[in-house]
Parts: sequence; C-alpha cells; structure tokens
Amino acid sequence: MLLKVHNVYAGYEGGDVLKGISMEVEQGTTTCIVGPNGAGKSTVLRVLSGLLKPRLGDITFENRSIATLTPRQILALGIVQVPQSHSLFPGMTVQENVRLGAYMLNDAALVERRLHEVEEKFPVVKTRAGDKAGNLSGGQQRLVEFARCLMLDPRLILLDEPSMGLDPRTFKQVVETIKVMQSSGRTIVLVEQNARTGLSLATNGIVLESGRVRLEGSHTDVLNNPEIGHLYLGGTLSNA
Ligand SMILES: Nc1ncnc2c1ncn2[C@@H]1O[C@H](COP(=O)(O)OP(=O)(O)O)[C@@H](O)[C@H]1O
Ligand SMILES: [Mg+2]
Repeated sequence: MLLKVHNVYAGYEGGDVLKGISMEVEQGTTTCIVGPNGAGKSTVLRVLSGLLKPRLGDITFENRSIATLTPRQILALGIVQVPQSHSLFPGMTVQENVRLGAYMLNDAALVERRLHEVEEKFPVVKTRAGDKAGNLSGGQQRLVEFARCLMLDPRLILLDEPSMGLDPRTFKQVVETIKVMQSSGRTIVLVEQNARTGLSLATNGIVLESGRVRLEGSHTDVLNNPEIGHLYLGGTLSNA
C-alpha cells in the first residue's frame, strides 16, 4: 500500500471532526471520497497533507509514518494537494505560478524539463505564459493549478472538489485532465461534490458521514449500493 490511514481522530477547537478514519490507497489508483457537506472530506485531505495533525491514529506513506511531519516534509515526499479554492497568485504570471510548484527542486535543468512537460499537457501554460494568473478564467486557473502540482512529479495527488464552480466545458477538461493523470499511473485521492462523476472516474470509493467511513469499496460497489444511491446519487445530483 502506498498510503495507509489507521484509526485517525482529528479536528479543530470544537473537537474531533474525524472519528476513527481508516483507509488504504494502492499505488496507481484513484480514490474518491464522497459524503454530505461537513462530513470531514476536506479535513481528511488536510490531515494527509500535514496541515492538520491527527490527535490519535497513524498515517503511513510507503510504510513510513508521516503523522508528525510538517507540510513541507510531506510535500517533499511527493504528496501534493490542489486546494479547494483559488490558490494561484493572481498578480504573478502563469509561468511564475507554475514554476512555484517546483520551488523545492534544486536542479534547474529538471525544472525546465518539467515545465516543458506540463506545457505539452496544458497548452494554456504556454499560450498564456506571460499573462497574470488573475486574468485567466476560473477554469483556466484550475488547469494551471493542476500544471503547478505536476511540477513536483507527485507520488500522490490530493484534489479537493476539482470541478467546483466550473462551466461545463472546463468541467470536461478537468475530467479529461484527471483521466490523463490516471493513465500516466498517478495515484489520486479526490473529494467530489458531484458524487456520481467522482465515483465514475475513480477506482475506489469512500463514503464519509459525520467523520466516519460509512462505506468503502470499489467504485462500482459504492455506486451500486442501494442506500448510497438513494442518499447521494439520486435525481438531485447532476449526472454529468
Ligand atoms: N478551520 C476550521 N476550524 C474549525 N472547524 C472547522 C474548520 N474547518 C472545518 N471545520 C469543521 O469541520 C467539519 C468538517 O469540515 P470539512 O472537512 O470542511 O467538511 P467537508 O469537506 O466534508 O464539507 C465541519 O463541521 C466544519 O465546520
Ligand atoms: Mg470540503
């Protein structure tokens, strides 16, 4: 297993939000976490990226405990999060923002090579290289955020609601981008409001409810679970 979360309790001043979460992520898979607002989905990602420390429990990455590491140390191991909301520096250019993704790398030639790779994958990085990131549409900014996260050649990518607020065309682009990352063997943990879309993209699904894992399994197990279907995949969710 690439990642193991074992009985993690974590939260904020108000108390535990995560109440004994366990999950495993295998190399090369995509795990989609779904569940109602406030269930603790973003908190799980925050714990994985080290922004929030578990009060109890353990997290291992490649068989090494990361529960007490700093966010920077975790980033250096190759766990990279694309945050939920606008995270680019709007006054900096697109290319400057993308280069920031590689700030940890000391090898200049490697940085140029990676930049070239992400330009190939995300043409907007090249065509709008000199434009201020703040002048791009929300969808274009999302793609630049993906490009920036790939600069570190991550071992595990954490995506918090990557489709949020996107117009249908950009939404499609984001879905395509996730598929490209999957086919190049990336390991992804994804939180998605649009449960059906997220689970369809994923290999594995986890349903979180009030800080507990209600159900986990292959994406079809979760999609086909009648109770879950009723709760999260009913007519009110779009079927994009
Ligand atoms: N920084 C914070 N300080 C205090 N409480 C928080 C903070 N962030 C989230 N919470 C609370 O933790 C719970 C889970 O939040 P979150 O993980 O963001 O849920 P989700 O992503 O599933 O919607 C919510 O009750 C929320 O109010
Ligand atoms: Mg959230």
